[in-house]
Amino acid sequence: MTRPNRLTELDVHLTAADAEAALRADARAGLTADPKELPPKYFYDARGSELFEEITELPEYYPTRTERALLEESVAAIAEASGADTVVELGSGSSAKTRLLLDAFRAAGTLRRYVPQDVSEAALRGALDALAVEYPDLALHGVVGDFTKDLTALPTGGRRMIAFLGGTIGNLRPAERTAFLAHVRSVLEPGEQLLLGTGLVIDEPTLLAAYDDTAGVTAEFNRNVLHVLNRELRADFLPEAFSHVAAWDAEHEWIEMRLRAEKDMRVWVEELDLAVDFAEGEEMRTEISAKFRPAGVREMLAEAGFDLGRWWADEDRRFALSLATAV
Ligand code: SAH
Ligand code: AVI
Repeated sequence: MTRPNRLTELDVHLTAADAEAALRADARAGLTADPKELPPKYFYDARGSELFEEITELPEYYPTRTERALLEESVAAIAEASGADTVVELGSGSSAKTRLLLDAFRAAGTLRRYVPQDVSEAALRGALDALAVEYPDLALHGVVGDFTKDLTALPTGGRRMIAFLGGTIGNLRPAERTAFLAHVRSVLEPGEQLLLGTGLVIDEPTLLAAYDDTAGVTAEFNRNVLHVLNRELRADFLPEAFSHVAAWDAEHEWIEMRLRAEKDMRVWVEELDLAVDFAEGEEMRTEISAKFRPAGVREMLAEAGFDLGRWWADEDRRFALSLATAV
């Protein structure tokens, strides 16, 4: 509901018209490419955001609980090292783990403002509604926007730390990732921080199970992008005629999620005036989820103009949190 009060603002930087234009362009490009591909940001309508929350609770999906444990271990040191009065979070979703950060920054006595940014207005509104009750004295400034496109809409002033958690950086392709980090660096002042969560390269069976759970929630999340296209672009995909595929690409060190057509199909996309043919067995990529090595994280941060100060990883080295300072 997002009851605006003195301390809560919601800035819709990505209007419905912009979002629709982007979806049309991305869907046309992806459905006419060979191989076909759709960007992962379109998973996250209200249902997709709910499905992601379900994924975070699955026994096989270790990233969320591992990152939460790392945050529990590190938040006091992060708050002390940062001294930020504004925590900005990109791709904040439900802001579930962020409570740990907010509590630590509050205890350190510096926190004034929390700025969650997400492409999913539904997720953002849900998070703001809950946070306004839990943190009545904290200024909340939500931004509906695409973090790959525009970070200049984020509030300036004060001392800021940008959090990018969950391993979401791994959902960007390498060139997008480089551009994204350079953009993040460009909106920060020297001395301000980036807190980055990254999944690490681990054994293949554990990775595959995390992206192909036995309850089938990830499969439903994957197929949700077809429901989004059916609704938003008046397409006639039969989601159940596509099966969920999760594969480890050892060369690129990323998981790929794909949707495999289980029969020959012609799909009509009314809003694009486009017919799309799928052959039986054809696979369309819907997400990459890159996993990193410690040296690679340090290197990508350094290339973007960040100095990696502190780093926390769990004992199985499945996930890492990096606290980097803009130089
Ligand atoms: N940070 C949370 C949520 C991760 S899920 C966590 O760690 O659990 C990824 C989130 O990023 C979703 O809420 C999704 O809506 C958002 N997202 C995906 N692509 C985005 C984009 N291009 N711009 C802004 N938000 C995006
Ligand atoms: C949001 N992102 C980091 C998740 C991931 O693990 O790549 C999205 C996800 N895809 C399948 N399961 C979860």
